[in-house]
Amino acid sequence: MRIIGIETSCDETAAAVVENGRKVVTNVVYTQIPLHVPYGGVVPEIASRAHVEKIGEVVGNAMEGSGKIDAVAVTYGPGLSPALIVGLNAAKGLARGLSVPLIGINHIEAHLHTPFLYDDGDEAVAAPPEQMMPALGLAISGGHTTWIDMPRYGEYSIIGQTLDDAAGEAFDKAAKLLELGYPGGPKIDRIAREYFSGDADSSSLIPFPKGRPREGVSALAGLSAELCVSFSGLKTALLRYVQQNGGTEALVAAGEVPRIVASYQEAIVQAVADRTRRALRRGNYRSLIVGGGVSLNSRLREVLQNLAREERVELLMAKAKYCGDNGAMIAALAYYRRNLTGEAAMSVDVKPCLEVGG
Ligand code: KG4
Ligand code: ZN
Repeated sequence: MRIIGIETSCDETAAAVVENGRKVVTNVVYTQIPLHVPYGGVVPEIASRAHVEKIGEVVGNAMEGSGKIDAVAVTYGPGLSPALIVGLNAAKGLARGLSVPLIGINHIEAHLHTPFLYDDGDEAVAAPPEQMMPALGLAISGGHTTWIDMPRYGEYSIIGQTLDDAAGEAFDKAAKLLELGYPGGPKIDRIAREYFSGDADSSSLIPFPKGRPREGVSALAGLSAELCVSFSGLKTALLRYVQQNGGTEALVAAGEVPRIVASYQEAIVQAVADRTRRALRRGNYRSLIVGGGVSLNSRLREVLQNLAREERVELLMAKAKYCGDNGAMIAALAYYRRNLTGEAAMSVDVKPCLEVGG
């Protein structure tokens, strides 16, 4: 069974055809990042217009040589409303035109399917998702930092999350303050890697706060503080550090930026690793599934690999090209959610704040 997946929730216009929920047949991603660089972040109006301009070409290219399509899948949330609308409308038209079912997909749940994707010719392929349960999911991206309990494949419940900024957002905001450009995550990752490849060790790092929320605050919404993070204090600590040390320009001139970003990244990575360890110890998990753009972070990957070894769970992470937003993850998860089709799917609206398991 071949499904085409369409993804326009943020700043990637993407479409892909996937066979039986695992094997990627075609995968097309048009990234709008250069359009948003001058603004230091994604501008919804610009994103929406760029999706309109590119969606036809991207979907057309994904369908080229893909063979017969059996269903159309599309992200209907969470994400930016004007961006989601473009993909959803395109998907409805395509499903009608091809006379095949439409399947609405949750973007975050789809990120957690990415480790199960493979390409023709891949040697190491993950076992089927059903065999990897129960799993702890960690969706970590520009919009989300969420720990998800997955007792069986397709069942999701949030057990921890960020109370404010997502990890990717925290990286992007720091990069903006330090004038490193957008998106900040990859830039900070590279600078920190270079910093640690020199003589630097962890004793040289600035002790930024590790994002531990206070027990009992209302923002926890019933979740345990032990499994949640808050990055707003970290962001403020960075701002204060920059101000107290003469501002960004002076720190650049003094060659201090690498040490600052390495310290900042370490605070995020250690906060995420700590909550992940606590979450793993609360359950009897077979695997730890990590998805989303921030899972590209080399330090996070290293720390999570060690953590998984210590906690005796299998760590499942996607190939680099499937970590960021893409249509393949949408098409693939749709294979496992084929029951969500029919006329009801045809009348589905975008849900910008769609919850995991919602
Ligand atoms: O999953 P994604 O492509 O889009 C969302 O759904 O948000 O994630 C984008 C986020 C951005 O915040 C970007 O800075 C971050 O992922 N990111 C990274 C790295 N590569 C991308 N963060 C840290 N280290 C990286 N190597
Ligand atoms: Zn995403």
